[in-house]
Amino acid sequence: MPARGKFITVEGVDGAGKSSHLQFIADLAGGKGAGTAAPGRHVIVTREPGGTDLAERLRKSILEEPMAPLAEALLLFAARTDHVQKVIAPALAAGSWVVSDRFTDATLAYQGAGKGVPEDLIRRLAQAVHAGLAPDRTLVFDCPYDIARERLAGSGRSLDRFEREERAFHERVRNAYLALARAEPARIRIVDASGDFAGVRKALERELSGL
Ligand code: TMP
Repeated sequence: MPARGKFITVEGVDGAGKSSHLQFIADLAGGKGAGTAAPGRHVIVTREPGGTDLAERLRKSILEEPMAPLAEALLLFAARTDHVQKVIAPALAAGSWVVSDRFTDATLAYQGAGKGVPEDLIRRLAQAVHAGLAPDRTLVFDCPYDIARERLAGSGRSLDRFEREERAFHERVRNAYLALARAEPARIRIVDASGDFAGVRKALERELSGL
């Protein structure tokens, strides 16, 4: 039986720029970057909400349809259940490494700190959906609200329900990620995403080393 693969998640406030670095992170995970482990490793890149047909359909509703925060949290965990069972768990068991653009930390930050869904409920749902499965490393792209806003405005695309939230919401989300990182420093690493592209890449190399 192959050794279980590693599970890497990528998080952060909207507009921090994580999507532009996902392929680079996957390359590092696969051993193609400087200072990383064995080359030729199989890597899957996926995202949440999403990653399966059902979860991608739920993503559309979650990002577009107004709903209560609790409904949002439950739909996110419905999507996550499908994603974990069909994609993440089997890939890790087969020895592949999995890079997911967001996972349960996003629910703690957005629906918990951002929208007031009780943290203990989110943790109980996480326990029901993926007991025994936690990311081996989580990279949190961190940057101040004003920089993130500028990047979103510069992207030229229309903003989803979350991206349209007010400053105070985004600041609660940002602070929640920083608090999660303080609570679990071995797993969760903050990457300063306010700097230039090359600086962010260097930080990613550093924070992924030793996995
Ligand atoms: P993305 O823009 O990184 O693809 O994520 C889509 C949005 O979904 C983003 O604004 C954050 C939000 N989201 C939550 O609110 N809770 C979650 O659990 C996840 C996975 C995403």
